[in-house]
Amino acid sequence: MAVRFHNHQRLYKRRKSEIDAAIARVIASGRFDWGDEVPAFEAEFAAWLGAAHAVCVNSGTAALKVALLALDIGPGDEVITVGNTDIASSSSIHHTGARPVWVEIDPVSKCMDVDALRAAITPRTRAILPVDLYGHPADMKAIMAIAREHNLVVVEDACLSLGATIDGQKIGTFADITCFSFAPSKHLGSFGSGGAAVTENADLAEKMRKLSAYGQERARHYTMHGPGGMGGLHHETHGLNERLDEMQAAILRAKLPDLDNMLADRRAQAARYSEGLAGTGINLPQTLPGYGHAWRNYVIEADDRDGLANRLAQRGIATNLTYAPPMHLQPVFADYGISIGSFPVTERAAVRLLGLPIGPQLAMEEIDEVISAIRAVA
Ligand SMILES: Cc1ncc(COP(=O)(O)O)c(C=O)c1O
Repeated sequence: MAVRFHNHQRLYKRRKSEIDAAIARVIASGRFDWGDEVPAFEAEFAAWLGAAHAVCVNSGTAALKVALLALDIGPGDEVITVGNTDIASSSSIHHTGARPVWVEIDPVSKCMDVDALRAAITPRTRAILPVDLYGHPADMKAIMAIAREHNLVVVEDACLSLGATIDGQKIGTFADITCFSFAPSKHLGSFGSGGAAVTENADLAEKMRKLSAYGQERARHYTMHGPGGMGGLHHETHGLNERLDEMQAAILRAKLPDLDNMLADRRAQAARYSEGLAGTGINLPQTLPGYGHAWRNYVIEADDRDGLANRLAQRGIATNLTYAPPMHLQPVFADYGISIGSFPVTERAAVRLLGLPIGPQLAMEEIDEVISAIRAVA
């Protein structure tokens, strides 16, 4: 049996009637932007997180960028982050005009090492951007304490950690702004692209709404469907067009009630992998005490990583290299002049990591198939 990572049709079938109804509702309303779906989803998503405000945008990357801009990060600033992640964590910093400063990771959680963070703070440091890698939260309590001590702001990249917890508290209320992705393969996937920036601070939320919508009050646009039209232009701040659209918001609303079940599927699959692969000599992912893992990725580490990946591919099992090589070795950042050997823990993980298929689109038999294939060829 072949096992792949993605199967969006299966995910659609889990909520087909609700999704079909949501799409029909938007089409019937004739409001493809500036309708009621985005604000409704924002309220429902924030409530699910236990957070005060969610500002929806059109990707996780946009959420990070808008969050940093709302915190006035810009040229001359340094933002401390990690390199073993999707490029969005660093490119969002770059696009504000600030400079990403990568630090080493913890060898178990694969998230930001807090001692390395402390050591990297300079007079130019303005913000910290930790990443909850694979769904394991970064040490947000320590990171927030360090940030407060040094008067820094924190934007948490939680694009992989929706549903994760620290001491029972959901990710979403620890950082100044927490950013999520609704890309189709994430925990809560749209039918295209989407994201959210979540905060407890009403002023920051309003600033992000304006930044992501032409620098205008959202309320102004709601009148555009009425008899008075929209009136003239009134741009209060600089702005982008990074809004979530109504169709995606409606689809996300249809899927949100299934999120707890989808997260439970991920946890059950991860537990099955950990049980089924025990004793193979392969390094299995660990969850540190006090943390609830969201299992966006199940990433093992093996000495002969490429050989194992090839042998699994021959048996029809897909694997992936989430996320390698790290940012400091990517061509786009070559001008930073950071050489191999600068981040030994990050680099060692990058050459050994191998992501296995996981997610509610897969049946437990498929997880078992992956386990037997690994046991046969490892
Ligand atoms: C850690 C991390 N941050 C940010 C993003 C960007 O999210 P999006 O693809 O929605 O822009 C991703 C996407 O995979 C990610 O893995």
